[in-house]
Amino acid sequence: MSHPGQAKLLIYQGMAKILKIIVTPLLAPVRWLDLEIRLMKLDLSYVRRPDDIFVVSYPKSGTTWLQMILYQLTTDGAMTMRHIDDVSPHYEESKVNLESLKSPRIIKTHLDYRRLPGGAGRYIYVVRDGLDVAVSYYHQLLPRWTGKFGEYFREFLKGRVPYGSWFKHVSDFVENKRVLNMLVIRYDDLQDNLEETIRRIATFCGVSVDETRWPRIIESCSFPFMQQYEAKFSLTTRQPAHVMIRKGQTGSWRDCVDGGMLDQYREAFDQRIKDEMLRNYAK
Ligand code: PPS
Repeated sequence: MSHPGQAKLLIYQGMAKILKIIVTPLLAPVRWLDLEIRLMKLDLSYVRRPDDIFVVSYPKSGTTWLQMILYQLTTDGAMTMRHIDDVSPHYEESKVNLESLKSPRIIKTHLDYRRLPGGAGRYIYVVRDGLDVAVSYYHQLLPRWTGKFGEYFREFLKGRVPYGSWFKHVSDFVENKRVLNMLVIRYDDLQDNLEETIRRIATFCGVSVDETRWPRIIESCSFPFMQQYEAKFSLTTRQPAHVMIRKGQTGSWRDCVDGGMLDQYREAFDQRIKDEMLRNYAK
């Protein structure tokens, strides 16, 4: 027979598990409250410049890749910066004084369509398959997300993660792409044809690049090259260190998204995504 103390312990453990099941969904939005408060307090009154370039995205969609592409296109491409955010600040997080940056400024933001200040400048919206985004985001949120992938995935579909619903973020921007001076780039376009896509970005930004520089630009924006410089891209605020240039694949969601989760994704997608441009992310 087991020790009475052991039986008590099992009861307590059981009660703790039940409590966790009840409380976790209630706490989920609170979990990310710090970001919501920061976004509410955000000062949007910076002085615009007509040649500002905004890299806009839902998190984990290829933002850093675009920052690197634009850095390569607009400078000599030397990897001497301490971190990419020093030369291309993250608008919501940055301590860098935007006024101190040379033009054209390359500004990263995950703000949604409603919150983005808009106005002068060029906007590049980068979009990626929602399932790959979900998996990549899971890896980023992991230290603060203590539950299993399945629980996280349900929260992701409901938009109960930092920056809210992927479905709303992408559909709002893509449906309003003509309101702002905006180029929409797909992560998979970059993967399928990096050079052609970077040339499209250069044309949109009005940047002319000497032909001799192209091979080095393409090389510097490749996954292996960026992976070598991981420390210049990873999220500095996160402990333990976060791997930014992680897998860089399309379709690796298949390793962790099961049939039931896929059905839930399809349902959410079909309800909310209408724009033809995003149809290839339907499952
Ligand atoms: S963040 O934190 O929201 O700014 O993240 P973000 O930069 O948007 O997305 C990170 C994912 O982009 C991948 N990445 C690349 N893939 C292919 N080639 C290159 N050069 C490249 N650079 C960044 C990065 O690996 C993250 O995806 P996952 O799936 O996690 O690997």
